[in-house]
Amino acid sequence: MNAPLLLSPAALAGIDKAIAKYPPDQKQSAVMAALTIAQDENGWLSTASMDFVAQYLEMPPIAVYEVASFYAMYDLKPVGKCKLAICTNLPCALQGATIAAEHLKKKLGVDFGETTADGAFTLTEAECMGACGDAPVLLVNNKRMVCAMTPDKLDQLIEEFK
Ligand code: FES
Repeated sequence: MNAPLLLSPAALAGIDKAIAKYPPDQKQSAVMAALTIAQDENGWLSTASMDFVAQYLEMPPIAVYEVASFYAMYDLKPVGKCKLAICTNLPCALQGATIAAEHLKKKLGVDFGETTADGAFTLTEAECMGACGDAPVLLVNNKRMVCAMTPDKLDQLIEEFK
């Protein structure tokens, strides 16, 4: 039985391109790329999306769930239009991440792991991103890294996504 088509032709073409990087009998090596593409298209990874990826890559669904639940950049529940993941590990904390996090919580009216009532922002706590020299560091929508965050820079960032 085929799963319903949950991704656009463009997304499927992207997954096919990722699959083509590996030997034909190792389609599952493209699982992280496929999950990223599915999340970019749908905003988050529903069980149906992960099941679709599993079927597409001929993998057991549990193997896909394991990958998706291991990495923090995969969202297993809906998030806001703008997801802000602030690193709170020690080097960032010593350089102002704690102040930055408190500023964001107050400004957005949410705690870590919460989304604003209008669905615009989700605030999450992140682990070290290997960019400690640019602390405090924040990742926007899993792809754009913003460094040396000050309350003023955070205010500008929020305005950008309002
Ligand atoms: S501690 Fe924040 S990037 Fe390393």
